[in-house]
Amino acid sequence: MERTLAIVKPDAVERRLAGQIIQRIEDAGFEIRAMRRIHLSKRQAEGFYAVHRGRPFFPSLTDFMASGPTVVLVLEAPDAISKWRTLMGATDPAKAEAGTLRKEFAQSIERNATHGSDAPETAAVEIGYFFAGIDLI
Ligand code: CMP
Repeated sequence: MERTLAIVKPDAVERRLAGQIIQRIEDAGFEIRAMRRIHLSKRQAEGFYAVHRGRPFFPSLTDFMASGPTVVLVLEAPDAISKWRTLMGATDPAKAEAGTLRKEFAQSIERNATHGSDAPETAAVEIGYFFAGIDLI
């Protein structure tokens, strides 16, 4: 079993797509181990995306992530990290495959509906950013 962090981003929450996205997560066979709604501050968004500090899109990305509430989830499944990335589709919705969440729900590379961890080490850090150990027993 593996765990990954998933975020339903502000663009999707604002358009009331969180329910549909969570349904797709359950239909795909993930177990939702933890979930919360949080409206990130700019500082909290900058902390979450610290690895991207210095990239040209960092200021705009963190403004966007602080622009409204998100839903953050810990998903569990065999190969959860790659399984969730496959369900999301490519970061850029223009390159996402048919049937993926980003193809269906994303509006642009920034307003791309969902986030997922990219490796076991980042999943551990990202899960710990939002959830305490006691939330995941
Ligand atoms: P995410 O998977 O959450 O990780 C970093 C985010 O930066 C990414 O999704 C995109 O929403 C956003 N982003 C904006 N512009 C770019 C870009 N040119 N390349 C990669 N990510 C970008």
